[in-house]
Amino acid sequence: MRIAVWVFFVAFAGAVGADDPVAAGKTVYDRYCMGCHGPAGEGMMPGMPNFALGERLNTTDRDLAERIRQGNGVMPGFAGILSDREIENVVLYLRSLL
Ligand code: HEC
Repeated sequence: MRIAVWVFFVAFAGAVGADDPVAAGKTVYDRYCMGCHGPAGEGMMPGMPNFALGERLNTTDRDLAERIRQGNGVMPGFAGILSDREIENVVLYLRSLL
């Protein structure tokens, strides 16, 4: 019985760690976004939003997800490249840069 409880806790803790949405969002960001948006979200080109100052983030998660799917000018759309879950996670990560 005691072992069963322990196994349950270990399994649960592992699941929480693996399912940390901000950490998962950072993995997506580092791979697909950092080249343009910079390691801290500051933007690598003139005229880009600075996420570390919250620029363009003053909207709903749903709206940001839609913008990431569609793209905007120089920025490619990520529909079909990233899953809905990956996009949700990367939105949470952007919010964590503030
Ligand atoms: C090729 C460079 C490039 C890549 C790669 C890129 N972006 Fe962008 N992103 C831009 C530029 C440039 C803008 C500013 C667009 C404008 O205002 O014309 C922008 C704007 C945004 C905005 C503000 C919303 C908007 O429509 O202006 C968000 C949010 C965003 N990017 C998130 C991301 C995320 C998340 C990723 C990775 C999945 C990503 N970007 C990848 C260049 C890029």
